[in-house]
Amino acid sequence: MTTTDSILIKALGKQKLSTPPIWYMRQAGRYMPEYRAVRKKFKNFLDMCKNPDVCCELALQPLNAFNLDAAILFSDILTIPDALGLEVTFIEKIGPVFNNPIRSSYDVNQIKMFDPESLSYVYEAVQNIKRSIPADMPLIGFCGSPWTLVAYSIEGHSSSNFKKTKTFIENEKDSTHDLLTRFTDACFLYLREQVKAGADVIQIFDSWANLLSRNDLIEFSMKYITALINALKNDPITTNIPIILFSRDPKIDTKELINSNADCISLYWKMKDFNTEDARGKVALQGDLNPKILLENKDIISLEANKVLEKYKDYPGYIFNLGHGITPDIDPDKIRFLTDIIRNN
Ligand code: CP3
Repeated sequence: MTTTDSILIKALGKQKLSTPPIWYMRQAGRYMPEYRAVRKKFKNFLDMCKNPDVCCELALQPLNAFNLDAAILFSDILTIPDALGLEVTFIEKIGPVFNNPIRSSYDVNQIKMFDPESLSYVYEAVQNIKRSIPADMPLIGFCGSPWTLVAYSIEGHSSSNFKKTKTFIENEKDSTHDLLTRFTDACFLYLREQVKAGADVIQIFDSWANLLSRNDLIEFSMKYITALINALKNDPITTNIPIILFSRDPKIDTKELINSNADCISLYWKMKDFNTEDARGKVALQGDLNPKILLENKDIISLEANKVLEKYKDYPGYIFNLGHGITPDIDPDKIRFLTDIIRNN
């Protein structure tokens, strides 16, 4: 058995299956007591990500707890800006904080060239995870989209409106494009190394796509995601690796998302006007279910899970997932319950 026989790879190849493959964004994380027990040994979250044995242990935790069809690398999207010298730390209740955010075109010019070797701890984690999972279980590698990485790098922390970022991209257009190009090149080299180390699938997270108007989204995000995907499709090492694009609440239509050349679109839970008929036969689909449903009782979870199954039952290539990551307030028992409903439908 190889990963080609797995139902995830079949669904990504747009095959219609009787039961969808199942995995969850943030399947490893604070909602799991096993995760919290490991996490408390590290002050800084990124120090934990820099330990390949611990990353392997954390990636395996959800596989041991639930009946899932894929592993996802345990790491973070902010490893690249950290490696470029922006120095990322994670502060409790605040989230990521950059010690050296980008504040000017001078700062953009000062950024060092990305050396893929500087993230060898990630590729080592990929190798460890790959050795520890069944031969037919795919491992998903990932990166942030160039735009999402740029937004964090300029803002310097999470924010509700990313005001500094919006001002910067308006006033420093050339530097913004320079920065986006640098991140696109870095993402390509980074993902290529993840694939060399054993990643079978790639997911690109455009978690801050929702900040941009339609035109800006095309100019500052989709253009670079498409360039990244095309670079991967044109490289012999990554050419056959299926690519999933998660774009959070993007203000563009279905056709424009599909034009990215991704093999699969991961649906954010609010994308109610996504046109599945425009997508049929062109891309696989993933997700859709509102993660907050998992805070409800089991009857409601069951009802909502069945609605999603009904919606995609004839869609060629549907992957069950949530419409965003599992949040820390979710009871692992509900994940088990939901997984069983999907598996036994
Ligand atoms: O199973 C998995 O999916 C784990 C691997 C993973 C993590 N982050 C671990 C993590 C993945 C795929 C990510 C992606 C990621 N990181 C995204 C894209 C996905 C999305 O939610 O849109 C983003 C935006 C980040 C950046 C990030 N990392 C933030 C904003 C935060 C802090 C706030 C928060 O939501 O926790 C993190 C920290 C982080 N990344 C944690 C985990 C398990 C929690 C850190 C902790 O334990 O203190």
